[in-house]
Amino acid sequence: MFYALARPLLFALDPERAHAVACAGLDLLAKLPAPAAICCPRTVMGLEFPNPVGLAAGFDKNGDHIEALAALGFGFIEIGTVTPRPQPGNPRPRLFRLPQARALINRLGFNNAGVAHLVARVQVARARGYRGVLGINIGKNFDTPVERAEDDYVTCLRAVYTHADYITVNISSPNTKNLRALQEGAALERLLGAVRAEREALAAAHGRRVPVAVKIAPDLEPEQIVEIAGLLQRYAMDAVIATNTTVSRYAVQGLPHAEESGGLSGAPLTARSREVVAVLARALGGALPIIGVGGISSGADARAMLDAGASLVQLYTGFIYGGPPLIREAASAACAGED
Ligand code: FNR
Repeated sequence: MFYALARPLLFALDPERAHAVACAGLDLLAKLPAPAAICCPRTVMGLEFPNPVGLAAGFDKNGDHIEALAALGFGFIEIGTVTPRPQPGNPRPRLFRLPQARALINRLGFNNAGVAHLVARVQVARARGYRGVLGINIGKNFDTPVERAEDDYVTCLRAVYTHADYITVNISSPNTKNLRALQEGAALERLLGAVRAEREALAAAHGRRVPVAVKIAPDLEPEQIVEIAGLLQRYAMDAVIATNTTVSRYAVQGLPHAEESGGLSGAPLTARSREVVAVLARALGGALPIIGVGGISSGADARAMLDAGASLVQLYTGFIYGGPPLIREAASAACAGED
């Protein structure tokens, strides 16, 4: 009800401004008594999730709104992508609505306040009593050469290790030059080797093994997906998140803003992300859990993603268009199918 009133006002604003206003509103709403949590717990990556519907990375890049978002009923929140140093991202405008397609195009370019800021925000949320499942999504600064990308991931891994329930290695944003090249054979092996070595050292030092997930793009051939699935197992990763935004414009041809560069998300991605999840599920045969994300706009979409082989799902663009009611709808559909 509240979102039905707020949405036209938010959509009258420039998308980035609307995002800031909505987050400020959520921070205020979080001071009201929260609705009953949606409870259908499950254990994935050794972690207890109160329900399988999470918030995808990129909504709260700096961890500034963790408690407000958790109060909406998400089963988990993934903050970031964060980079070692703060960076402004690409010039504006860099976020576009395609309402006819219930889609967004963004080329934000990892605008964020840096990993030290994010860690401080997580510490504040935890000190105030936040106990939910928190993923921290890490990336590289735009000016770190891709041949040295692992240095940035290792820096972030170290900085967030004791603050995260799980950590996501993001190698699939289309908005950082050459980032997606890290998904390819030798480059991926090198990165995963560095991540595994650092994670083992951190686990020994802290006496806790924090799960690491890898987030992949939808714009991969089936053979590439199968190859990645093999490498994730070989390098002892704990989960795969599929998918990030797409560079394809096939599904939105002719619509206003369709030709903007960046990553397309929302309804045009639903079928593709689900297909990637299905290919992963066949390749992995249950060896690693899959977190399905991309174009989930209804309870039925969430259910279909789980049926394709995901253990958990995440929302972003559907949440922008549908608002908080989508969380409950998705969680109910996800949980109903398990009875
Ligand atoms: C994103 N996404 C994203 N992913 C990521 O790993 N790190 C990030 O920083 C961001 N940033 C970001 C910003 C904006 C404005 C959007 C719309 C998306 C990708 C997101 O987490 C998700 O993978 C895709 O958007 C597909 O899901 P939806 O949006 O179709 O539900």
